[in-house]
Amino acid sequence: PTNTMWGGRFSVPPAEIMEKFNASIGFDQKLARQDIEGSRAHARMLARQGILSEADREAILSGLDQVETEIAEGRFVFSTALEDIHMNVEGRLKELIGEAAGRLHTGRSRNDQVATDIRLWVRESLEAIASALLGWQGALVDLAEAHVDTVMPGFTHLQPATPVTFAHHLLAYVEMADRDRGRILDAKARANECPLGAAALAGTSHPIDRDQTAKALGFDRPMGNSIDAVSARDFALEAMNAAALAAITMSRFAEEVVIWSTPQFGFVRSAEAFSTGSSIMPQKRNPDAAELLRGKTGRVIGAWTSLAITMKGLPLAYSKDMQEDKEPLFDALDTVRDCLAIAAGLTESLEVFPDAMAQAASLGHTTAVDLADWLVRHLNLPFREAHHVVGALVSVADREGVQLHELSDETLMAAHPRLDGSVRAHLSPTASVAARDHFGGPAPAQSRARIATWKERLASP
Ligand code: ARG
Repeated sequence: PTNTMWGGRFSVPPAEIMEKFNASIGFDQKLARQDIEGSRAHARMLARQGILSEADREAILSGLDQVETEIAEGRFVFSTALEDIHMNVEGRLKELIGEAAGRLHTGRSRNDQVATDIRLWVRESLEAIASALLGWQGALVDLAEAHVDTVMPGFTHLQPATPVTFAHHLLAYVEMADRDRGRILDAKARANECPLGAAALAGTSHPIDRDQTAKALGFDRPMGNSIDAVSARDFALEAMNAAALAAITMSRFAEEVVIWSTPQFGFVRSAEAFSTGSSIMPQKRNPDAAELLRGKTGRVIGAWTSLAITMKGLPLAYSKDMQEDKEPLFDALDTVRDCLAIAAGLTESLEVFPDAMAQAASLGHTTAVDLADWLVRHLNLPFREAHHVVGALVSVADREGVQLHELSDETLMAAHPRLDGSVRAHLSPTASVAARDHFGGPAPAQSRARIATWKERLASP
């Protein structure tokens, strides 16, 4: 026959170039374990329903064990002629156990088979990403704990804004990563339904039991519509989207590591183990891990876009276009998983320079708001008026080349007659941070409390 699977209605084999073009085995062999798991559940269900004899079931199960071992040990010979992982496994099963292999595909199509395999893979991958997110969060919390009192400038427009602490800044990423983790787990919950039994698109006339296979494979339930079951790839897009959002979080962190490691900032330095040198410039130590975190995010977003474009024009049910789902899906989720491990390592080993941070926080009039707040609190000025008074003082300070706390009593009083030198105690970055002592604020006590909360949550997520 021209093809062992559907040779019946064909008289010529595929063109050589078509065979290559059509094959997905180069990348879907990644689904071997899931494919065999699905086949085991299907064979057991068929036997329990009296569709397959006990003897055939046993032959199939032991044959599948052997195929699995061959693949795990790297002895399996993948064949392009057999197109994909599904037919490669079945083809080898036939060589091993003969005729019974041909009964495994009763009441099943590659359409529900591949949808099942991918969902199993996505589920596992999302679990790994969720736990990798926990790992990065843990590293951020640990680093934050060491820097609750490390004052640094907070930025808006990347211009010095108001003092914060390094801990407070790091804890922002812990919150972000936690929402990322929530989205990953949501995506997993929605993906965890079983397409098996939908067959090509319209189910089967055999008396199958879809609850059995769904349960055996750890799915929450069988999918409620056979056409949807084989047509849907929104679960893959949702997983990739959630992963891309996590990548975007890491990318922003990475960008800060890059910019903060410049000598102009000098706030941090990535450990040697996460940096690289230059082939020509002997002095170089570049933050490549951070740059790659930032760079790979583009690729992950691109992967999502690629599958979204593949899916947007497809009629129900299966079209071969959908074979294009796997490469971007695998690449995106694997990449994000790797990125999270790198982000955790980079964070754990980051060198921090508190003096440079404190020095930067003392420049740029970062406590101007504290001065305005003092005028509101002590002199009952409307905030707008206080803002105006301080604005005038900032421009005097700039002219004199000094910071706000260095202005003379005369200058202060010229700006407002009741503005006296006692305000200076409020104008240090440390005092500014300590004064922001409410839930969600940067005061050290608040950071300590938040760190305690995170430690508890991360310990039992
Ligand atoms: N290799 C195919 C894929 O990944 C499996 C499904 C093939 N189904 C079909 N009707 N040709 O999408």
